[in-house]
Amino acid sequence: MGPVPRAGTIPPSCLHAVFRAAEERERATGRPVVKLHVGEPYFPPPREVALAVEHAVRDGRTAYTSAEGMTSLREALAVKLETENGHHTSAERVFVTPGSCQGLAALFQSLAGPGDELLMPELHWPIHLQQILLAGFRPVFYPLGPGYRPDVESLRAALTPRTRAVLVNSPANPTGAVLDAESMRGILELSRAHDLQIISDEAYEHFVYEGDHISFASLENGVPEDERRVFSTFSFSKSLAMTGYRLGYVVTPNAAAAHAMRVVQEASIIGPSTPVQYAGLIALKTQDAVRANARMVRANRDRALPALREAGLLAELPQGGWYAVIDVGSTGVDAETFAAGLLETHDVGVAPAAGFALRPVLSDDGRVLSADPSAEARTLVRLAFCGDPDELDTGVTRLLTHVRRLRSHGGSP
Ligand SMILES: Cc1ncc(COP(=O)(O)O)c(C=O)c1O
Repeated sequence: MGPVPRAGTIPPSCLHAVFRAAEERERATGRPVVKLHVGEPYFPPPREVALAVEHAVRDGRTAYTSAEGMTSLREALAVKLETENGHHTSAERVFVTPGSCQGLAALFQSLAGPGDELLMPELHWPIHLQQILLAGFRPVFYPLGPGYRPDVESLRAALTPRTRAVLVNSPANPTGAVLDAESMRGILELSRAHDLQIISDEAYEHFVYEGDHISFASLENGVPEDERRVFSTFSFSKSLAMTGYRLGYVVTPNAAAAHAMRVVQEASIIGPSTPVQYAGLIALKTQDAVRANARMVRANRDRALPALREAGLLAELPQGGWYAVIDVGSTGVDAETFAAGLLETHDVGVAPAAGFALRPVLSDDGRVLSADPSAEARTLVRLAFCGDPDELDTGVTRLLTHVRRLRSHGGSP
């Protein structure tokens, strides 16, 4: 047997293990687990979106579309990008993708060259890391400052002659951190000076709780197209709970970037699902639902999370997104032990942050030799606050009981 293929050396997402543990617990006890490890919203997609898929299928509007997606949807997205995000772009630069996840994977593939390094946050969505490694980039991690926000100096310090790209994710998974305009301008200047591409993941664009979402590419409006460097990815999954529809989109900065992306998409998907694209056209007209969903998640945050702050587990409420990262170090146990104990004694699932902080060591040809978590993540735990408000309350109450018990027993349950 030959060596393990490069993809086989990449660590699987840590979330699989958490899901499995919660499912096993439910099977073993017959009781439901409160799933604070899952980023699945409790609000449903709008009914008209479901009907749009049904009608497209019934009417036989199911043929392949181009690799970029339907012109009508891309034109509607260009209008949304202009009016909501302040991007001066056009339909030719927009790609409809099966979820923004596939859009991101395709983007990284369209950008990576041999030996190229990509800067990414030290705490990150595990899928970003997998995608970056699969594309052939070598990840370099930039440290995060207070509130888990990136700062320009830490990015500058992480630069090497091989750095080609920077990943930013605002609002961020797992931290809920939101980048401000000044930091974005700094990152853009740095990227211009060092000829870096910027990949801006804006899946949680509608979930910003202080101020407004700033879309990174809007900072490049005055720049001639072939000098632009910001790629953006967006999703229908979060704003409208269309998680299983698999619908997102990528905006490329110029014609050359769009050409490379088109090649990857032709080779990867032929084109996105046609009935789902019809759903996207209708979804763009449901802005009231988007606003209502954002209000609901914000209400969850404001009701359930202050108790975690008062208990000294959370420095500040997340400024955006669906997740918070708490530090359970004061309980005397590490995150894995904390999460296992919480599941075992209180039927609550949370995700230890180790899997959001892996530091792969690579061979020269990009194979992962080892991937241990950073020491800083040892006591960090991620929880989702986009779920049912009552379940969230129950989960947080039980979590606090667990914390008190551990603290009073010096780390043993
Ligand atoms: C930061 C981030 N980006 C992108 C995605 C992908 O979402 P989708 O592929 O459903 O659009 C997710 C999903 O959890 C995410 O957390």
